[in-house]
Parts: sequence; C-alpha cells; structure tokens
Amino acid sequence: MAIFFKDGCFKLDTKNTTYSIKIADYGYVMHGYYGKTISDIDVGYVYPAVKRSYVASVKEDWDMMFRINDAPQEYSAFGGADFRTTALRIKQADGSRAADLRYFSHEIIDGAVEVEGLPHATENGCENIKTLKIILKDAATDVFVNMYYTVFEETDVIARFNEIINKGEESIFVEKAASLQLDMQCSDYDFITLAGAWAKERHIKRRPLSVGTQGHSVHCGTTSHQFSTFFALCDKNADENVGDAFGFHLVYSGNHKTEIEVEQFGNARILTGINDEGFSWEIKQNDKFTTPEAFMTFSGEGLGQMSRNLHEFIIRHIFRPKWHNVRRPLLINNWEATYFDFNYEKLVSLAETAGKLGIELLVMDDGWFGKREDDRTSLGDWVVNTEKLPGGLERLAKGVNEKGVKFGIWMEPEMISEDSDLYRAHPDWAIAVPGREKTIGRNQYVLDIVRDEVKQYVIDAVSCVLAGANIEYLKWDMNRYLTEVYSLSLSKDNQGEYFHRYVLSLYQILDAIITKFPDLLIEHCSGGGGRFDTGMLYYSPQIWTSDDTDAHERIEIQRGTSLGFPITCMGSHVSAVPNHQTGRVTPLDTRENVAYSGTFGYELDITALTDDERAAIAEQCAFYKENYNLINNGDYYRLLHIPGEFSSWCFASKDKKEILLFCVQLQSGANDGNKFVKIPAADKNLRYEEAETNQTYFGDTLNNIGICIPYEFGERTSFSRHFKAEK
Ligand code: GLA
Repeated sequence: MAIFFKDGCFKLDTKNTTYSIKIADYGYVMHGYYGKTISDIDVGYVYPAVKRSYVASVKEDWDMMFRINDAPQEYSAFGGADFRTTALRIKQADGSRAADLRYFSHEIIDGAVEVEGLPHATENGCENIKTLKIILKDAATDVFVNMYYTVFEETDVIARFNEIINKGEESIFVEKAASLQLDMQCSDYDFITLAGAWAKERHIKRRPLSVGTQGHSVHCGTTSHQFSTFFALCDKNADENVGDAFGFHLVYSGNHKTEIEVEQFGNARILTGINDEGFSWEIKQNDKFTTPEAFMTFSGEGLGQMSRNLHEFIIRHIFRPKWHNVRRPLLINNWEATYFDFNYEKLVSLAETAGKLGIELLVMDDGWFGKREDDRTSLGDWVVNTEKLPGGLERLAKGVNEKGVKFGIWMEPEMISEDSDLYRAHPDWAIAVPGREKTIGRNQYVLDIVRDEVKQYVIDAVSCVLAGANIEYLKWDMNRYLTEVYSLSLSKDNQGEYFHRYVLSLYQILDAIITKFPDLLIEHCSGGGGRFDTGMLYYSPQIWTSDDTDAHERIEIQRGTSLGFPITCMGSHVSAVPNHQTGRVTPLDTRENVAYSGTFGYELDITALTDDERAAIAEQCAFYKENYNLINNGDYYRLLHIPGEFSSWCFASKDKKEILLFCVQLQSGANDGNKFVKIPAADKNLRYEEAETNQTYFGDTLNNIGICIPYEFGERTSFSRHFKAEK
C-alpha cells in the first residue's frame, strides 16, 4: 500500500521515497518530510519548537511555539500570518485578500485522478497507484481547496494538483494558485534550471540557494525558450551518481512561475504553477478552478537517477499508451534541405533517395500552402499551393508512399498572417486589444483560439488537411509569443483569464485532433524548443528540441534537456555542413553520433550528397534501427563532460547486459593526456566485451576505471562503443 494514515498523519511511500504530512494544531496541514524511505508515520517532531520574539502573528490564545510564519505547510494562503510567498491568493467576495486554510476532510482513492481539461499523468495500466485527496477549508468563507497527491510507487514520483472551489454565493477571483508547494526545513541546496534562448534552449544553470526569493517566471504565453517548466534541487556536492536530488515538472504549456524562497530561519519554500502576473480567474458559486498538475521525484543517488526516474515516468504516464515502446519512424524533414524552395518533383526525389537509404518518413515542412514563398504570408490559409504541388496533397502523399516512405506535413495552426485570405475575411480573429497597435512577430499574429468559432476553425482546418491525403505525421509548429492579449469573448472583468484560457483551448484542439486521428503521430515544435514541456508531451511524444542543428552546440542542448526529459522525446537530426546556424563543419559520423540520442532523422538534401556519404547514411539508419530499443527504452547516463572539450553518455538495457556508449571530442589541445570515461551503468557482477575491440572488462572495472580515451588530434571527432555481457 502506497498511502498510510494514522493519528492525523499521512505517509506516502514510493519504492524508494517517503513523503510525510501531518494534520497539526488548529487544523493546519503541515509538511513533514520528503526524501529516502523512512519508517515512522508521525514525524511531527520536526516542526519548529523554539520560542522567538517578533515573528509570530498568532492569535492571543495560541501556543507561542506555533507560528504559521515558519511552519512547513502543504498549501499556504496569502493574507494571514504567513509572510512568505504563498501558494494561494484569492480576492474574496468582500474584496479582501485573506484566506486561512484548515483541514476539512480527506479520502484515499484507488488509481490516478483526472485533471479536468488539462494534460496529466495517467495510470496507463500500471498497478499500485493511489491518490490522497485532502480537503482544506477557509476558516471564514465557503472556499475549499482539494489537494491531490497521486503516488506512482514504481517510478518514485508523486503528482499533485489542486482545485479551488467556491461554495459561497458570490464570485471570488483566484489571483494565484500554485500547483505544488514544498516547504523544506533546510536550504542547503543547489538550484538547477534549464535556461536559454532561441537556438540555445535548456542549458544547465546551477547555483546555490541563497536568502530571498529566486526562481523564474515567463509571461509570453508559451513555455518559452528562456526557462523550462522543469527544475531541480540537489545537495551541494551532488553529481550524476551521488547526493540527494529533487526533480520537479509542471505539466503545462503557458505562463509559468517557479519561486524558491529562503526565509529568515533558513527554510526553503518551493512553489511552482501558473504565473500569477496578470492572472485572475473568476470562480462563480459552486464552480471551481483546477490548477495544472505538477510532479516531483526524489533520488538519493544523484542527478542521474533523478533523470532516469523522470524519463521512465514521462514515458509510462505522460505519453499516450499508443506511443509506449512503439518504434517511431526514422524521418527526413525538408526544411534545411530546401526551405521554401521545393515542388512535387523535389519532394518525391527526396523520398526516393530516403527510401533507398532506409529512411521511413518524409516530412514536408513550411511553404506548401496558400502563396507562401517566404515567412510573410498565408498562415491560416491551409489550402495546398497547386503550382508547387500539382494534384495536391493526395498526389504528393501517393508519390511519396510509392517510394516506400510515409508522408508527414508541417502546420502552424494557431497563427494568421496579415497577408492571408483568413485575415482579410476575419481581421478580428487575431489576438489584439481594441484600439491598440498589435505587435507582430515573425511577420504573423496569433489566432484568438479562446473564441469558440476560431477554435472550431482551427480544428476544422487541420482535420480537413489530415483527411485529404494519407498523412501519418504532423509537425505542429508555433513560431511567436503572445502579446496584447485580449478576447472579445471575455468580459472586461475576465481578461485576466486570457493566457490560461489560451492554453486550455490549445489542449482542447489537440484533444479533438487526436480523437479524430488516433494513429497520427504529432511532433511538437515552437521555433525549435520554445514549448518543450510535459503538457505538450501528453499530446505528442516528440518535440523538436531546437532550431540549432549544429552537433557541437546540440551536445549542451540535449544534455541539458536530458536532465528532465527522456531521450525518446527529443527531435534531433543530422543536418548539412557548413551548419546553417553556426557555419561549423562537423564530420558526418559526429553529426550522426549526436543525433542518435533522440528521435533520429535527417534535415539536409540527401540527393546532393556523394555516394560515399549516402552509403554512410544507409549504415547509420541500419545502426539506429538495430539499437532503437536500447536508445529509446534503455536507461540513460550522462558521463564525463568537459564543456567545449569532451562529452560522453551511454544507454544501458534494463538488465544492464548491453551498454551503448557515445564519446565526442570537441577539441584537442597539444600534448593532452588520456581521458577515462567511467561507466556507472555497468553491473559489477558481469563481464563485458567491447564489440569494436574485443577487449573485455568486469563491470566494476568499467565502474571505477572506465574506458581509456587516448589523446588524439582532431576536433569534433567521435565514436560509439557497444558493450555486451558475456553469456
Ligand atoms: C520554425 C521551426 C523550423 C521550421 C520553420 C518553418 O522555425 O522550428 O523547424 O519548421 O519554423 O518556418
């Protein structure tokens, strides 16, 4: 059993972790502990028990030992005696912003609970999943908070979300509602975020927590290129293999905010959820507001195990079951091969060459519709350009399929170009504040999908394209942020709901498309990796990681992304040299060795390569297919990494009998020494043979000495090694 309750205490156990909660004095629901498995159910002794002056705004008759201002709580509210940044802020019916949440009741539910209207973790056939629901009530009003904790025992993950319910007669407005609060009685941790910019997404940034509030917030309407919805905390000496590490994800694709406040006594409060900046949500009588889900894991074995817990969890509980353990097609995308300059003949010739090399899917990117010869026109006019593609999509899909290759297509359904028939017919469908100039981004505006008729147009337009030909794959792009948000469908008091309503509408659209086309594989994309989050992974098991396809730079991007996301969701392609983003020239085998760690594919004109290059590509395709299971379903380990100089990583089968290692030397110095790559993934009781050299090693030798990388001249050289346990 994963959830225990005794004498007002809850103990939530996963395979290797415990999370403790206690209903304490005055009905406050307090946090006790989160970390490695412990045996006690009641850990109430951890609550602060020192007398302090000038801190506690407690009521006169209260025990001075109990102060809500430094008590670790499960869900804190603004407006009372807790002066830290709080999880919930409500504008009550009387205009006050006070709330005081106390225990009301609880229930233990079998299985996971649906987060209405939002992507969320599901059971997907796994047993031993239980949910604890604790209901809190405001001491003075009929506002209730349902807190849900779903315990995924096998994957060491706890998922959480909250519902705010108004049972009072008049409307209240939620101004802030975090998805997850975790109050830790310690702040001696490093804080890790994945930060970046367009073409520089998700680089690992690690810094010690320090007094005050630290974190990040995003208000561009999407997840953003700048900050991820994933973050972590870890011991200061934690590395890939040792130390405590906590990983957190918000299952959401819009404005988000993560705050970690280290307060006066050294405690840390962690909050993550929808960004409250500009947010306000009306809850009418008997109605509710549901926060997005967040989930967290704990590893006592460093960041590597933290990532592996999250990888396994996302694959098993966030991806739709349809995409569990299914080999997805090896693809070629024509974007960097042709940009807008293509026609029927070009695409079919790409498909023909692709088919011969073992590539299984051709994705036709931007430029196939309306009058789109560049990025200034036609978004919203999802009608094929028959000058480029005579016979339309049906003929093209047929032509591609005849070469033994599947056909996929690019769309950017949330957008509208000023120069489009759609805009000429419905200029008011673009998001805008009446009377205010609209900001343009990549020459386009965003459709107001909060309006029902616009949302329906998008569903119909996408459905019509997909139904018109044998399209097995959709690259769903989104190439600008939201500005001047406002909807004619919302009253002036409800405009603060806009950003969240946009995300809810997007999810409704994706749900509708998936319901109509259950076999369609969707790859998400947003100017590369601008909406790379577990919300989108619920609808599409792969996301284009970055518009930067340079193998050298991809190493940091993919390594950073791997901290929170499984390899099997990261779009990564071999592209042309000199690279289009950096001008760098990287050998083909290194481009391939880097791109293998993701949804492998190509993004270059394979018809223009030499015969030798094409022969190499055919071998690469065969290699990837042969090792698909190991790469996509195996355990991933980040290994020796010297930024800008050397990087290595490996995949191990679940039984550890097979290990696939990749090493890239980015640059060499004169007269350098040898390097040793230790492989913690090896089982110390097994003896392995390295397929390429026939050298054998015991697992503990690989764990402790590792393999030797001899000093060698050269930049951006690389190799892979395959270790198999002897029978
Ligand atoms: C974005 C995507 C690219 C490509 C272009 C097409 O930049 O990230 O992969 O699809 O749009 O315009």
